Amino acid sequence: MAFEIAKDVYWVGALDAQIRIFDVIMKAPHGTTYNAYLVKGRDKTALIDTVKAKYKNTLLTHLRELIDPKELDYIIINHTEPDHTGALETLMAQAPQARVVISRTAESYLKHLLNRDVAPLKVGDDDVLDLGGRELRFFSTPFLHWPDTMFTYLPQESILFPCDYLGCHFCDERLWDDSVDDFSASFDYYFHIIMRPFKEYSRKALEKITPMDWKLIAPSHGPLLRSNPRRYLELYRRWSQEPPAADRPKSLIVLYASAYGNTGAMAQEIARGAEAAGAKVMVYDLMALDSDPRLVDAVEQADGLAVGSCTINADAVRPVWEFLASLATLRVKGKVGVAFGSYAWSGEAPKLIEERLRGLKLKVSEEALRAHLVPTAEDLAHCRELGERLAKSL
Ligand code: FEO
Repeated sequence: MAFEIAKDVYWVGALDAQIRIFDVIMKAPHGTTYNAYLVKGRDKTALIDTVKAKYKNTLLTHLRELIDPKELDYIIINHTEPDHTGALETLMAQAPQARVVISRTAESYLKHLLNRDVAPLKVGDDDVLDLGGRELRFFSTPFLHWPDTMFTYLPQESILFPCDYLGCHFCDERLWDDSVDDFSASFDYYFHIIMRPFKEYSRKALEKITPMDWKLIAPSHGPLLRSNPRRYLELYRRWSQEPPAADRPKSLIVLYASAYGNTGAMAQEIARGAEAAGAKVMVYDLMALDSDPRLVDAVEQADGLAVGSCTINADAVRPVWEFLASLATLRVKGKVGVAFGSYAWSGEAPKLIEERLRGLKLKVSEEALRAHLVPTAEDLAHCRELGERLAKSL
């Protein structure tokens, strides 16, 4: 059911209690919501965001409780990701006179979503849409988390609609942050998976929105934040900070998976060499690591990564691939990278790791280092020398 969240402002979104994996990469143990909002002015009516395609009829039902969709004047797309634009085509058919409003960078995304031109209204910083007696203001906030993201603001009701920013995957039909169950873990997880890679853009957005007068934050997923909403901003402010860089020693993280201890022995020697050359070194056995949250910080703060794997069935082993996959959401571009590993038969793993590190845009200037079965004293000396060279290159 649609419900009024402020005078003539309605939540018209959809609840998705069943979803457990979102966007392939995220866990959603509490489901999610696709929040869409209807804002009525004296003269014009605007919808802020749509919903995932699967829920298009839910959106239409909620809208029809309030208006005939033909009365819709604007469909505002805070960003074009399909969980918020999946119902757009259907809605446009129901509301053919409605103008689609997007950020200036969203045009090509919109075109390729719909595979046609729709002559959208493009808006940017401080542009205003007059609805009659109330207005919607727009703020360009790129990379939060798509390049085309913008925030929408309704000053007359002091409501900020910040797209995915300040949202989370948490489905509770009570929707208000002070009514739903504890969603703090989902809120934290969402930032760290979705927004964390864009800390710099997050800080820019915080500069824009902090001085504004708003009483309610209405994100595109999860609870609506009305109970002291600035405390959520303070969390984002803290999470968006960079650690002080100047007084940090150069650091190398050595991560490995080892079937019989041989790749582990290489890891320890690389670490010794790097330490001897003055680097701060941390060594992680990926087989023993159970999603240690400190690792994420350590990886982002490190200047270099050495990643090792034994080779089984001509491949690196699963914990190593899982770790390498997790790097996609971390800022690792430009760090020094190297691969290593012991092998029995063919030894493909280090080369495959090296390719992945290059794909992640790490600086890989050292050949992947391999040892045949048990590393010899000479192999271990090569590992130490590699560690020393890595430390000097950080
Ligand atoms: Fe919820 Fe980036 O879409």
